[in-house]
Amino acid sequence: MTHAVDRPQGALSASARAADLLARMTLREKIGQMTQAEKNSVTPDEVRRFGLGSVLSGGGGNPEPNTPAAWRAMVLGFREAALESRLGVPLLYGVDAVHGHNNVVGATVFPHNVGLGAIGDADLVRRIGRATAVEVAATGVRWTFAPAVSVPLDVRWGRTYEGYGQDPDLVGRLAAAYVEGLRGADWATPDAVLPSVKHFVADGGAVHGTSTRWDRAAVKSLADDPTLANAHVDEGFVELLDRGAWTIDQGDVAVDERTLRDVFLAPYLPALAAGALNVMVSYGSWHGLRMHAHRYLITDVLKGELGFEGFVVTDWAAIDQIEPDFDVCVERSINAGIDMVMVPFDHQRFMDALEAAVERGAVAEARIDDAVHRILTTKARLGLFDAVGDPEREPALDAVGHPDHRRIAHEAARRSPVLLQNRGDALPLPPTLPALLVAGTAADDVGLQCGGWTISWMGAAGPITPGTTLLQGLQRLRPDAEITFEPDGHGTARAPVGIVAVAEAPYAEGMGDRNDLDLAAADLALIERVRARVDALVLVVYSGRPVVLGDAVRHADAIVAAWLPGSEGAAIAEPLVGVSAFEATLRYRWPAASADLPLHPFGTDPSAGPAALWDLGHGLRTHVERSST
Ligand code: GLC
Repeated sequence: MTHAVDRPQGALSASARAADLLARMTLREKIGQMTQAEKNSVTPDEVRRFGLGSVLSGGGGNPEPNTPAAWRAMVLGFREAALESRLGVPLLYGVDAVHGHNNVVGATVFPHNVGLGAIGDADLVRRIGRATAVEVAATGVRWTFAPAVSVPLDVRWGRTYEGYGQDPDLVGRLAAAYVEGLRGADWATPDAVLPSVKHFVADGGAVHGTSTRWDRAAVKSLADDPTLANAHVDEGFVELLDRGAWTIDQGDVAVDERTLRDVFLAPYLPALAAGALNVMVSYGSWHGLRMHAHRYLITDVLKGELGFEGFVVTDWAAIDQIEPDFDVCVERSINAGIDMVMVPFDHQRFMDALEAAVERGAVAEARIDDAVHRILTTKARLGLFDAVGDPEREPALDAVGHPDHRRIAHEAARRSPVLLQNRGDALPLPPTLPALLVAGTAADDVGLQCGGWTISWMGAAGPITPGTTLLQGLQRLRPDAEITFEPDGHGTARAPVGIVAVAEAPYAEGMGDRNDLDLAAADLALIERVRARVDALVLVVYSGRPVVLGDAVRHADAIVAAWLPGSEGAAIAEPLVGVSAFEATLRYRWPAASADLPLHPFGTDPSAGPAALWDLGHGLRTHVERSST
């Protein structure tokens, strides 16, 4: 059963201030506040002229050069322009800081939520939220589109790693901790960052094959799609479509209302009770009705039943998908309860359409006033109208990538791996190991261990940002062992132990949807090559979700799910060598075969379906060789 959220203290003064400002605004200025443009499609002068409420950096929305200083200069340029508008309403700049300030080269990159869920430690997530907020605020940004409170039912979904797990209570508990971390002492402090709890609602419930985001036959040229152009996606996209990209993300949710509430709505309650003041709507649909047009869920349930007093933002150009006529999309989304619209391209077209809808009586000005009052109240709660909004009071740039933050990221990376199998107690490695073979490019690749939403939308292999790797960790912890690194495992020497690291190629959103999750043939071949040369084989898997290991289960003595640990990958070496103990457990059911998917604990009789290879809660423990450093 759902219940009203506790009313945040201090809202009345912010609300009164918002009402006073609202009374002095023209209709066009009100609509300006409801408009969020993408930084590549708007100039600071347009922000000033049109009084835009927000600008975001989407995937690919980085300044050139991509440095903390360049980020701060870019963001402050937009903020200062907003203050020069007729009423000088401060601008909210938004980014996807979903595992640290991950767009910025040099920022601390924390493990993705899939790894944090495996640990399940709310205090750690709170500390990560706090460190992230400081790094984000140091670049002038005061809004991040996180945490995702997704509960992914089908791990073939490319956004599985943004979810903490298939447990609504765990998801809600960790999301609330992240919100508290982003807030810090109070929303009205210079290093508090507004969270966006997303994607409302049931983003993780979409059924494989129901997404209509891309029609494979209709894809002619990538350049035709401004979103892909903005994200610098290349021709590899077509090959991904053939492997199942965009078959789930943004698809249709088929569950009944009881399940929708118990599984997908439930995590919002603790996150909102923690004081979250923004919610982002899901692209998907429920029984065929787009969430962005769902008045019952947005207005009656979220704002009415749950008493949510913040503001609701759309996803990226999401209202365009409601139906073919854009004017009707604008009318239906705003009347459903949307308050701010993410308009990555052509903000004037949106503003004109909404103004026309009000003038023809299709959208009541009272609905506009409610939306703008919510936005202005939130800005007031963040202290943007006060000295708090003075950039000089924000954290210094050297906070970005600070050693204190990297220590938190190192702790999280160290604690997140799940030990799935440990035949013959292969782990921890013997303390007097004379030689060690390390194979696989993933053992020494910061980009692969970070995954998607890192520097670029999709992420990428290679040294994309400063960090440490598993190989470096092993070299530091076992300086006396002869460590041979073979990126492709084509050597001939034997070794007592071989560590093979494999990784999913980074992906984001529907680009990561797959028809099957079978281990790549090249990875299996690498494992088999090393198997023939070692006495014990340890397999380390970097992935955003459970993957189908097939014969690797037989070849490997020990198997470690390392998830996507972020920039501090050397930490993964610590449980392997016994400096720390394995503690994490599975929060997603792990399939034995792709044909068994989707595999989740919900539904009439979860035991009726195929058994998991390893089920929720599975995770072997090891002992510690010496006190952890
Ligand atoms: C994307 C994602 C959303 C993100 C937004 C801005 O399409 O769905 O999670 O916050 O656009 O980048």
